Amino acid sequence: MTDQTRHILDEVRRGALSPAEGLRLLRDAGHGAPALVRFAPDWQVRPAPAGAAPAPVVVFAGSVAEHAPPAEAPVATHADRFAATRWGYRLDTKDRDSWATLLDALDAGGVPKDHPIVLVGAPGEAADRWLDAPLALTRALGARRGHRPATLLATGGGGAERAAAYGGFAQLVAAEHAELRLAALHWASGATGSVWDAASAALADDAGFAEVRHDSAGRAVRILHEVAAPVVALPGPAFAPGGVLLISGGAGGIGPFLARGLVREYGVRLVVLGRRPADQVGERLAALGDAVEYVAGDVTEQGDVARAVVRANARFGPVTGVLHLAGVNEDGPVAEKRAESARRVLGVKLLGARALDAATRDQPLDAFVVFSSAAAYLGRAGQADYAAANRAVAEWARERASAGAPGRTRTLGWSLVDGGGMTVAEADRRALFARTGLAPLPGSALLRTLVEGIAGDHVDLVVGHGDPGRIRHFAAERTARTAGAYPASAPTSSGPPDSSAVHAELTAMVARIGGLAPSRVGPDLDFAAIGLDSILLRRLTAAAEERFGPLPATVFFDHPTIGAAARFLAARLPLPSADDAGPEHSPAAAVPASAVDRPSAAAQSPGMAENGGGDTAIAVIGMAGRYPGAADLAEFWTGLLNGRDSVTEIPADRWRHEDYYTAGDPRPGRTYARWGGFLTDVDRFDPLPFHIAPRDAETMDPQERILLEVTWHALEDAGYSRAELRRRSAADGENAIGVFIGASTGDYRTRGAQEWTRGNRVIADSSLWSLANRISFLLDAHGPSLTIDTACSASLTALHLACESLRRGNAARPSPVAST
Ligand SMILES: NC(=O)c1ccc[n+]([C@@H]2O[C@H](COP(=O)([O-])OP(=O)(O)OC[C@H]3O[C@@H](n4cnc5c(N)ncnc54)[C@H](OP(=O)(O)O)[C@@H]3O)[C@@H](O)[C@H]2O)c1
Repeated sequence: MTDQTRHILDEVRRGALSPAEGLRLLRDAGHGAPALVRFAPDWQVRPAPAGAAPAPVVVFAGSVAEHAPPAEAPVATHADRFAATRWGYRLDTKDRDSWATLLDALDAGGVPKDHPIVLVGAPGEAADRWLDAPLALTRALGARRGHRPATLLATGGGGAERAAAYGGFAQLVAAEHAELRLAALHWASGATGSVWDAASAALADDAGFAEVRHDSAGRAVRILHEVAAPVVALPGPAFAPGGVLLISGGAGGIGPFLARGLVREYGVRLVVLGRRPADQVGERLAALGDAVEYVAGDVTEQGDVARAVVRANARFGPVTGVLHLAGVNEDGPVAEKRAESARRVLGVKLLGARALDAATRDQPLDAFVVFSSAAAYLGRAGQADYAAANRAVAEWARERASAGAPGRTRTLGWSLVDGGGMTVAEADRRALFARTGLAPLPGSALLRTLVEGIAGDHVDLVVGHGDPGRIRHFAAERTARTAGAYPASAPTSSGPPDSSAVHAELTAMVARIGGLAPSRVGPDLDFAAIGLDSILLRRLTAAAEERFGPLPATVFFDHPTIGAAARFLAARLPLPSADDAGPEHSPAAAVPASAVDRPSAAAQSPGMAENGGGDTAIAVIGMAGRYPGAADLAEFWTGLLNGRDSVTEIPADRWRHEDYYTAGDPRPGRTYARWGGFLTDVDRFDPLPFHIAPRDAETMDPQERILLEVTWHALEDAGYSRAELRRRSAADGENAIGVFIGASTGDYRTRGAQEWTRGNRVIADSSLWSLANRISFLLDAHGPSLTIDTACSASLTALHLACESLRRGNAARPSPVAST
């Protein structure tokens, strides 16, 4: 038995993996190494569905001039705010509320729900703003019952890129929100017929293709087709020895090990462009010594990129290749996504590619490679903007290639890369593999696939790694489905499935994923009430999809109890029976006896189960503190070693102890103590780094101010900047940083009351909840955020709860902080 097999069986035994998931992983392990599967995005001719499509509601985000709307259609144009006029409507197309008002007006005006919205994107709009209006529309649609379908229409100059962005967006919105029906249409030059009919028909296709194009050759839909690996004798012709490569984003997760391979195997020199200061590029790049020059700059700024080229020319000579790695991902549900976040995601990819292109047009390039992502087609719920950015930049690259620009233009879209900065939590990797067959690509394979990709014939390649059969299946399902896979009612031949069987299966799943004894999972208890937060619900969705097939990402939000969810599944999905599903779908499948013989840990011991096992190690990665007589941990430690007594007489800047002190027996209004442990500088605080107005800081509880400072130092000690923490926690899903504070005894409010009696009308701002919440706010942390007051045990209780939360997966990175 290999270590990997043993590990999988252990996970099944302790209930961390379902038998079905375990079996899948065992099969994979048994079938040798995972393999690469390559796809090339392509167009497939597909006639429009027969029959008249409903008349659209036409909304122009920009100019109306290019295509006159049909005479009978309700029309809306972009304006500062919503207004209904005699000629139609005006709305702020970038504002969700404005859209919501329009949707209300359409409902009130009797426009049938199946009449689609056609949103005509504004030609000439800056590329990073392409999702502003679609995002606002989608958020408004998603917030309602009885959704209207919508087509995002791109016409005119830059239409292909914009439509590609819309296509990626539409496809992943559907993955997230199964009842929303969105499609993208590119109306290219030479297209004939009615653009409005085409826009309605884009939504009428049962197969649910997300991206449709009309041009002089007719109608086509975007597909992925599998292609063979290019036959390349390695090391391959991609990089001439002694060449000079300009790498944007090369100091991130992937960049350094790619750089090492390039320098060692190809003898090239590198100029790396990134935002971080030069002293933060990290050891892996620095270890390459003279072969690498780092330039701090923003790839979306033409001046910065030009500076990098000048530096490359001066230091190494002409640039012979460009690798555009710079990118950001800020994954999150569309319902919560902000336009600024989508702009960053689009901007770095698209504006960055253009800036790199413009700055290197006069360089003797062999290759211009855009690092895209398989997420463009195979992404997860929450990646709608990232998919849009990657699809659009690939389209841009196709145009660059067909314009004959210097060098081989290539876009390579890998699935998850091991060691990349854009990563996901281990549990999500497992869920991803179970759902899609995709497993992390080993870093060692990255350079090889890069070289093959440059040498091969395809301008745009999607490279998946894992279980080929399941990847193929998932890719086919993804590219040709938005609504079709989720029928509104289940056409089962044998009548509705038995909801009690579904109920029992769901109960077992919830118990396993929540780490609960099944007896504690009541049918009518809200998932939130039994501790399933959004991350656990996502895992539940992945597990349920294993058994029941594709599900809306919001299924357990819309049906928040086992009873409701079981009814939904039984009534609306054509459930495969355990026999139909085959062994890998059956919870009682033929997992080796050793894996299932014994009752799971969850069944044996609820306490253990709730702890998720008990063998999950937790690392303390940063510490800070302030103590009486010690400004930090080091001083405190020295004090302990030296046996220093930090109890002192009450300092004069606190209060005049002489006014209260009387030696001997206690007397009313007097005290017989004049000693204590006191922190220094409690009146000092620099509020601006914490985004606090100086006036507010003046009345804040010093306890809270000190806690902010100490938390900051603890994060610094752990090596995190606020931006890095946000980036990494977003990759772990839902910004899952938890903040747990133990705090007790605050008398600051009484100080405020005292001041009032003296005529000083100040509000002494002191609330225990604020201790945790302010830190969460500061870090943009969306995990649990709570202050615990259990008197002397507060800090220990906070630490305990933080560990519990980590083990349950509620918080990917809790920062437990104790303050007493
Ligand atoms: N990781 C994966 O699994 C994976 C899979 C498929 C494709 N990819 C693609 O591969 C590329 C690299 O991924 P990664 O995992 O290495 O990502 P990463 O660790 O997040 O690194 C991204 C890099 O981009 C830089 N960057 C971001 N915005 C920039 C800007 N405006 N100007 C200059 N540099 C900027 C960052 O620089 P600073 O940190 O200095 O700000 C960082 O070094 C990305 O384009 C991604 O889409 C990654």
